[in-house]
Amino acid sequence: YMASGQLSRAEALACSGCRHACHVMLYCDTNTLLFGSIPIRHIVLPLLLPQMQMRFDGLLGFPGGFVNLSEESLEAGLGRELLEELGVAFQILEEDHVDSCFAPASSPASSTSPRLITHFYTKKMEEGQIRAVETAAVTTATDHGQEVLGMVRVPLHSTKGGGGLASFLSHSFVGNARFQLLHTLLRLHLVAPEELREALARSLK
Ligand code: APR
Ligand code: MG
Ligand code: MG
Repeated sequence: YMASGQLSRAEALACSGCRHACHVMLYCDTNTLLFGSIPIRHIVLPLLLPQMQMRFDGLLGFPGGFVNLSEESLEAGLGRELLEELGVAFQILEEDHVDSCFAPASSPASSTSPRLITHFYTKKMEEGQIRAVETAAVTTATDHGQEVLGMVRVPLHSTKGGGGLASFLSHSFVGNARFQLLHTLLRLHLVAPEELREALARSLK
């Protein structure tokens, strides 16, 4: 699962000719039961609620966006983007930073334009805070209905028929968001490696 193009935070910041974008995965624990009943096989409790968004381009991604390092720090820029996209003021800290990497070049024509470095963060919250974000994202967020079409929760469970996480992973993701999701689910032990491998294999069918 090692990404190519990984670079340290210091190396990333040293590239003044690069464009930078920051995104975050917000998540929380929850004791909510699916279908309000005894958890069916394969459903891990407590459930975790990672959040992603449906973007204007029809792709799934994490909230965040381009940061202008001549005007703001990575974390301040991320906070600004989150206010626009989620309608909530966040304090994302340097300690929430997970990794930085070069985005894959999208097309040969773009080889002359500045390279994009994406910085990824994770932030654990209380369930009530996540619910507040979900509400604000459709009421006070200025980007709602424009850049952002809606927040979505990531299903981490697997149903017997192969639904759940596998189906979610079969959708289309922007940039390296799919990799960031998989990497984070493993790193934070949100899904067991064996279960993730199975869901990944099913998602590619
Ligand atoms: N989630 C979202 N985008 C990601 C991710 C991720 N996990 N990883 C990398 N990216 C890349 C995408 O390729 C994206 O184009 O980062 C780039 C910038 O992120 P956005 O969230 O799209 O940037 P934002 O500043 O919120 O808005 C982009 O650019 O295309 C225009 O009109 C569009 O207003 C929009 C603006
Ligand atoms: Mg934005
Ligand atoms: Mg964005």
